[in-house]
Amino acid sequence: MRSSSDPKAGQSPGTGQPDWYRRAVFYEVPVRGFYDANGDGIGDLRGLQEKLEYLQWLGVDCLWLLPFYPSPMRDGGYDISDFMNIHPDLGTTDDLVLLLDDAHRRGIRIIADLVMNHTSDEHPWFIESRSSRTNPRADWYVWSDDDKRWPEARVVFVDVETSNWTWDPVRGQFFWHRFYSHQPDLNYDNPDVEAAMLGIVRHWLDLGLDGFRLDAISYLFQRDGTTGESLPETHALLRRLRKEIDAAYPERVLLAEANQWPADLVDFFGQGDECQMCFHFPLMPRLFMAVRREQRFPVTEILSQSPEIPPTCQWAIFLRNHDELSLEKVSEEERDYMVAEYAKDPRMQRNLGIGRRLAPLLDGDRGLAELLVALLLSLPGSPVLYYGDELLMGDNVYLGDRDSVRTPMQWSPDRNAGFSKGDFAQLYLPPLMDPVFGYQSVNVEAQQRSPSSFLHWMRRMLQVRKSYLQFGTGGFETVDCANPSVLAYVRVPEAHGQSGVAGDAPLTARAEVGPAVQPGAPESPGLPESRALPESPALPESPGDPQSPVLCVHNLSRFAQPAWLDLVRWAGRTPVELLGRVPFPPVAGGLTHMTLGPHGFYWFELVAESALHPEPALEDL
Ligand code: GLC
Ligand code: CA
Repeated sequence: MRSSSDPKAGQSPGTGQPDWYRRAVFYEVPVRGFYDANGDGIGDLRGLQEKLEYLQWLGVDCLWLLPFYPSPMRDGGYDISDFMNIHPDLGTTDDLVLLLDDAHRRGIRIIADLVMNHTSDEHPWFIESRSSRTNPRADWYVWSDDDKRWPEARVVFVDVETSNWTWDPVRGQFFWHRFYSHQPDLNYDNPDVEAAMLGIVRHWLDLGLDGFRLDAISYLFQRDGTTGESLPETHALLRRLRKEIDAAYPERVLLAEANQWPADLVDFFGQGDECQMCFHFPLMPRLFMAVRREQRFPVTEILSQSPEIPPTCQWAIFLRNHDELSLEKVSEEERDYMVAEYAKDPRMQRNLGIGRRLAPLLDGDRGLAELLVALLLSLPGSPVLYYGDELLMGDNVYLGDRDSVRTPMQWSPDRNAGFSKGDFAQLYLPPLMDPVFGYQSVNVEAQQRSPSSFLHWMRRMLQVRKSYLQFGTGGFETVDCANPSVLAYVRVPEAHGQSGVAGDAPLTARAEVGPAVQPGAPESPGLPESRALPESPALPESPGDPQSPVLCVHNLSRFAQPAWLDLVRWAGRTPVELLGRVPFPPVAGGLTHMTLGPHGFYWFELVAESALHPEPALEDL
């Protein structure tokens, strides 16, 4: 067993696939909410390890763990009081190493949140910094005699904070913070702060983490007369960070969290020398807007405003996450519309957004959820799933802040949703118990048993996505269609030689990382006995030709729709539907007609004539 003190800890899995993240499906896990192995009411790292088998069965490639560091937990752990350790509720560094080893053996990578922008006010650095104006860490944070500087910088948490400055009676000065007033911002104009952060990065990469989600990364610097967002100094720091990582840690990924417009977001990719990935924030609310308006325009408009990205980079796209459905990057009119449609009860609103999960946002409409997931899995980018959304889990809007969407994972109809053997009163948050989304009706056990469940559907969709690399690395061409409710596009295979991924064999994702688990090989301690997990209804053989374009057609309307698609460029090819492998009539010279059911969608491989009727082999003659 590797331990945190083992000098070999953190060796890269070394798979020779430096851009694995372009084809990966990500899954966001709050460790606290996933599975409680020691029965104290709080999910932990050992519990997550016990559930790796489930995640492998589901077919995800990379986990993103919410902050696991010691913290007073006043902002879900984003208020860190010690960057070098694990929160005692969640386990130990050795538990993390065991988890990483086990995940890597299963072909699953793990990245974690890193909060570079700020710390908790309980962090020893801040306690020292505030203690006087002359201590060694006096300028590790941003201090001022007044609260007048940088008025252009907006307040992010407008529902709680009124200023980015807070008076500290100990030091007798104001300190700067972009988020809660208990989260002072670090001062990156001080090179010692950057050096300390690089040490932290190395510490976790040495243990084997596959990368970081860089939280609130656009706010690292402040400059007069600016909003303090995405300044050149921030990008220069990211380039230094990337260089350090590339030099010593191959195949790691940096994922930027920056709630910005597309034109500013692409700056986080740099020239391919900053973050490899970046969340596409403006796309998310527009997906929800498009299906409610039953019009593709919100989505096509934002995509047309999204500049090309460097070939080794990738968008991270998502429907829901641990925060509110952010409405920062929409117009005021659009915000009013979204709130009126999706947050009818004011208790559903959080900050500038909506504190709800996928299923309740859609009033539990499974067909609509399938449509949104189909878009998530086929639009350009790597999809990031939020734990529990594969079950269509619900939320609890009566819980404070964003806890509405952070309730325990629902494993079974047993006590505490099968999440914990502790007493109900000990649980970090109550599981959902309402008749619609409560754990009695929505849970992993029941859905694994039912072949027609959303969970099995999701698993099949992930399998299909994986057999077509085009979804991850292919180009994107919209298909003209006069019906505004229909969104159609083709994912065109990446040209050979581009960004070093051409020729990747499809369907090898499971074998991508580290040595596969050998049958009979001893498993790491703490692993539960392997149970046979249910198979999903079989998919027809899908060779998934990496050279075929894939046509995706989606009906955003709740009514059946006709679609005349301009597929002239693909004339002669035969659309073969991906879930059933059923061939449709070949694409002819004019417009192609298709009928779509309410919220219906089709994905087709556009198979060339020669692939359908190959030349007979010599020995067959
Ligand atoms: C990010 C996190 C959010 C947190 C904030 C402040 O936006 O996603 O949960 O509250 O940073 O750290
Ligand atoms: Ca626990």
